[in-house]
Amino acid sequence: MPRKILVTSALPYANGPLHLGHLIEAVQTDIWVRYQKMRGHDCLYVCAEDAHGTPIMIKAKAEGITPEALITRTAAEHLADYQGFLIGHDHFHSTHTPETQYFTDLLYARLRDAGYMTRRSVRQAYDEQAAMFLPDRFVRGTCPRCKAPDQYGDSCEACGATYVPADLIDPVSTVSGTRPVWRDSEHIFFALGRFEPMLREWLASGSLQPAVQAKLAEWFEAGLQDWDISRDAPYFGFEVPDSPGKYFYVWFDAPIGYLGSFKALAERRGLDIDAYLRADSSAEMYHFIGKDISYFHTLFWPAVLHGAGLRRPTAVFVHGFLTVDGQKMSKSRGSFITARHYLERLPPEPLRYYFAAKLGPGIDDIDLALEDFTARINSDIVGKLVNIASRCAGFIERGGGQLATDLPDPALYAEFSAAAERIGAAFEGRDYSTAIRDIMQLADKANQYVDQHKPWALAKDPAKADEVRAIATQGINLFRVLMTYLAPVLPAMADAAGRFLGTPLERWEDVQNPLLGSALARYEPLATRLDPKIVATLIAAPADAAPAAKAAAATTARRAAGGNVTAAAASAGGAAKAGAGAPAATPAAAAASIGIDDFARLDLRVAQVVAATAVEGSDKLLRLTLDLGGEQRNVFSGIRSAYRPEDLVGRHVVMIANLAPRKMRFGISEGMVLCASGKDDTGGLFLLSADAGVRPGMKVS
Ligand code: MSP
Ligand code: ZN
Repeated sequence: MPRKILVTSALPYANGPLHLGHLIEAVQTDIWVRYQKMRGHDCLYVCAEDAHGTPIMIKAKAEGITPEALITRTAAEHLADYQGFLIGHDHFHSTHTPETQYFTDLLYARLRDAGYMTRRSVRQAYDEQAAMFLPDRFVRGTCPRCKAPDQYGDSCEACGATYVPADLIDPVSTVSGTRPVWRDSEHIFFALGRFEPMLREWLASGSLQPAVQAKLAEWFEAGLQDWDISRDAPYFGFEVPDSPGKYFYVWFDAPIGYLGSFKALAERRGLDIDAYLRADSSAEMYHFIGKDISYFHTLFWPAVLHGAGLRRPTAVFVHGFLTVDGQKMSKSRGSFITARHYLERLPPEPLRYYFAAKLGPGIDDIDLALEDFTARINSDIVGKLVNIASRCAGFIERGGGQLATDLPDPALYAEFSAAAERIGAAFEGRDYSTAIRDIMQLADKANQYVDQHKPWALAKDPAKADEVRAIATQGINLFRVLMTYLAPVLPAMADAAGRFLGTPLERWEDVQNPLLGSALARYEPLATRLDPKIVATLIAAPADAAPAAKAAAATTARRAAGGNVTAAAASAGGAAKAGAGAPAATPAAAAASIGIDDFARLDLRVAQVVAATAVEGSDKLLRLTLDLGGEQRNVFSGIRSAYRPEDLVGRHVVMIANLAPRKMRFGISEGMVLCASGKDDTGGLFLLSADAGVRPGMKVS
């Protein structure tokens, strides 16, 4: 019987870009969902923008746009990033939608009518100039305990003290910069404490990981407080139906957004919503979340659902935090890696694989160690997995393109296919690292099989053609089994492998029968090695991070992500323009003046053109081989309209030598050459060159 399963990832806030921390969660969820689908289960994966709350309201205001416009723009960016990482949502919605409002109103009304909502007055910081109540985080001041200046209204980063904004010495509103006053207002509270017996019973049912259970026990110990679910206008959210001027707090409707997204999907596909959500539903519901939002998902959310007469989550799956090279991602260290930044440099599947190789069922943090990442991909994916296919494919192709009709070593095949349940259980239990280890041990075995039978030696003897084909057929079949096991992790590679094998790798059970007698398509390389030089550019040199932040601060209207300081600075003069490859400097960056230190960060050098060729498939680019005085660089330059390649050889040009290598469709560009041009290129394009006497490698300053 196929299981009915509803799965969610946490909803990203609509006021910032996705980063690799968000992506580890999406990848963890996506692998699980793809695995369930391969098992033939009826598994639905929904997510949405978390659109409400003060930060989004304030950010939109700062940009001079409506919150709706901000959400629409961010949602498009988020969706493109998710798709870039091959995240297969069945539906991606927003909380600012009729569907989520429907469930928010419904759940609120049911909870209120059942007597779970109470009201009482709350004293809160109020900004008289901005005419709004201030969330704790929007008040800053001196820590009452250690006297550290400029601390948040809820806690001190210097001494760790927690307090309320009213305790701050010299409090200031970050919205207007004025001193807040204290005002009373009536708020609506959800009586969480009344659900303690239910929650304890839910906890005992084994729906949670041991580490999360321990945390819950601590929270029970501390006592469950009533939860303030309302905020005063102005607020961006849903107005509370029976209380004009009051809005639902963003965290009240955020998890309800799971249901809103599901409703939109269900209506599109004609699914029975009630069958999933009623209290006695036999459908399963799982939420993948990071450990920082456990309280909302393991206490509030099951209580809200239960109190409103709906089903509870079957389980909440909590993961740890992503670190980069052992440290918390940090903007100032340059290790805050956005999804876009990654996708501009590298394909998604290596990272999906690496995350899988590191994810276990627990809540430990997961480290992206860049050198280990490169080594792991090059060894596991390229050296082991793809190697099996690439070394066997040629023998089949040369032997007529058809697989043999029997396996020479059925016992070995049976060993591989028998692993399906073991590896499947590891995926089911989110123990992906164990699954990957198991699969790679089998990959080693497959390679050993080929090594031992040496088809390349036998192939020299035409009389042994059948034997060679049999060995290669065995190898290809072992590859097919492993690629099927990896399909949840590497969906695009599995698709490509399916095209090569002439049959899609979509069903877990298909590995039980080998692929025999059928024709193979031409083998195309399924993966290429990662270049450590490009991997290293995932993190910016710390020196680059600061000016990037400054440039971003210079304009609130423009997003800093993707901006390249080096390129921007190079064009700050207006006339000199980077020749190719790099994104055009934003006007905002060009307008900002830079200090001499910023300029000194550019490594400008004289380079000599050693070779120049037109790039096939591009009418703009030339491929230049540049000599930097002993070192050679490959640079793609958009000067084809102005120069014939053969005229360039021998010329001296000026290049930016420390520009991060950039992966382009045609290869890697390791720098840029400087050109002068009219404002819009119609005035021509002129390489900057140097007087007689220069030598390659000389510094330009
Ligand atoms: N909007 C809320 C979630 C509402 S769910 C009803 C939120 N958004 S978030 O954008 O801050 O985080 C979204 C998810 O990403 C959360 O599960 C969070 O734990 C996860 N992560 C954010 N940073 C992370 C890492 N550095 N590492 C791993 N996961 C991280 O919270
Ligand atoms: Zn302090």
